[in-house]
Amino acid sequence: MLQPLSRWFRRSGTDSAGAETIDRASLPRHIAIIMDGNGRWANRRGLPRVAGHRAGMTQVREVIRACDELGIRYLTLYAFSTENWKRPRPEVEYLMRLPEEFFRTEIDELVARRVQVRFIGDVDRLPDHTRRVVDETLRRTAGGDGMVVCFALNYGGRADILEAVRGLMREAAEGRLSPDAVTEAVFDGYLSTAGIPDPDLVIRTSGERRLSNFLLWQSAYAELWFTDVLWPDFGREGLLEALRDYQRRQRRFGGLK
Ligand code: IPE
Ligand code: IPE
Ligand code: MG
Repeated sequence: MLQPLSRWFRRSGTDSAGAETIDRASLPRHIAIIMDGNGRWANRRGLPRVAGHRAGMTQVREVIRACDELGIRYLTLYAFSTENWKRPRPEVEYLMRLPEEFFRTEIDELVARRVQVRFIGDVDRLPDHTRRVVDETLRRTAGGDGMVVCFALNYGGRADILEAVRGLMREAAEGRLSPDAVTEAVFDGYLSTAGIPDPDLVIRTSGERRLSNFLLWQSAYAELWFTDVLWPDFGREGLLEALRDYQRRQRRFGGLK
């Protein structure tokens, strides 16, 4: 196990560059990223949009490695929203093939890093071939006791909340739950993110300053970091910049400090 891991570290060479400026004692427990700007990255190079998605995929690997090395416990990546089905069919089809390619090349490293992969979103409505990769990845990484990497695939924050409400109402209808028992903690347990702490830091690349239906309930007190950098250019350096900014902030959660 350790042998291949050290090989990966050596290969990237610059893995620890810049990381010394990060205070390991005040890292976010959970980072969530809206990986945006792939299409514009490709357009600027005269390439088809899908080339941007491909380039973006390699950044996913870099960011997982960097987070693992820093000791981030939870990383959630917004890969496909419930609204992204509106895109032209060839682009949607390409995006639905990317998980196969990604996990085929990355699964061994993820397992070696003891990463546990999770998925949030309505994965039952993905094409069969994508669904199979999801199941296989869950199976292969189920025993991981290291970082949790959560892929938001066919995810929408409102759909997540609605699904939780449906679950609660079913329990109530069967007489197992009274309205007064529905606390925030109980509600959390019905969301797709059950068991995952709220994100401390939400990052969005590409200059857009909106949440686009990402983790609406869970981000109530997240620190938000926006950068003009497009996702395929973000990488480890972008992550470190976001972390340095995060560590200069004072989180008050409505109280005084
Ligand atoms: C983000 O990049 C990837 C997905 C939403 C799947 P975009 O494809 O949204 O790229 P832009 O925003 O058009 O540049
Ligand atoms: C958000 O990006 C979704 C993902 C990154 C997967 P979009 O590109 O879909 O968001 P909008 O349309 O600009 O709000
Ligand atoms: Mg976009």
